[in-house]
Amino acid sequence: MSHNLLKGKRGIVFGALNEMSIAWKVAEKAVEQGATITLSNTPMAMRMGETNALADKLKAEVIPADATIVEDLEQVFARSQEVLGGKIDFVLHSIGMSPNVRKGRDYDDLDYKFLDKTLDISAVSFHKMMQVAKKMDAIAEGGSVLALTHIAAQRTFAGYNDMADAKSLLESIGRSFGYVYGRDKGVRVNTISQSPTMTTAGAGIGGMGGFLEFAEKMSPLGNANAEECADYCIVMFSDLTRKVTMQNLFHDGGFSNMGLTIAVMDEFNANK
Ligand code: NAI
Repeated sequence: MSHNLLKGKRGIVFGALNEMSIAWKVAEKAVEQGATITLSNTPMAMRMGETNALADKLKAEVIPADATIVEDLEQVFARSQEVLGGKIDFVLHSIGMSPNVRKGRDYDDLDYKFLDKTLDISAVSFHKMMQVAKKMDAIAEGGSVLALTHIAAQRTFAGYNDMADAKSLLESIGRSFGYVYGRDKGVRVNTISQSPTMTTAGAGIGGMGGFLEFAEKMSPLGNANAEECADYCIVMFSDLTRKVTMQNLFHDGGFSNMGLTIAVMDEFNANK
């Protein structure tokens, strides 16, 4: 249902690969709420995924970019302003990838070239995105920038591997850039820490099926799904959150503040 929360706003959504992607749901909801957007993903993802189908459906232009390449990002911000007809009001960074996870390297057997890539793709790209946008003065006063993260940034989760380090860096970049972007241009920067979600990236994390079930039982409201995450992103892009910045916002059904639930305790007591 549309409340026109983003009426007249222009946005860029990075990272919609297929219907399961959190960015896919954000793109759909942003348009439903009155925004006009561009989409961006890697040329490879555009071949393998369904980004073009989403673009057709939403009448949005897709601008290919590897988010680790500054020139590609410059192209995304330049072209988006051209197509959308002005400065950008909101940006979603929904990008993550670890070659160590993909190749099954354990945390005590990391390939350091892979680690460089994990950090560049999953965290430093967020800095690159904002540095490019700020230098080009491409984001409007009062604009909102978001990246998606996970609680493995604060606490250790078996199987999350070097993505945990990437998420810590991502959140730190959100805070540090949030200060300078807020101070100089009135742009707010936040990260949303989402429940485990069955997407292409999510499925790559070791033991995801069991973790989903555990998190569900540990969260008083249950796991937040991709659609609900997208709803939260829309609120953060809207004018209803104008003074929220430099925050890591948990969107996890309460998981982050739980110690033990009866649902989890029952699992262990069942066989006693
Ligand atoms: P997804 O696999 O649908 O999205 C990941 C996206 O990153 C893909 O579209 C992929 O093409 C893009 N990408 C990879 N390398 C790139 C590069 N070099 N340049 C530009 N784009 C690149 O999976 P999902 O789950 O929607 O992931 C979105 C974000 O949400 C990621 O940051 C992920 O870590 C985060 N997140 C996911 C959770 C989950 O359980 N699925 C939980 C918490 C956060």
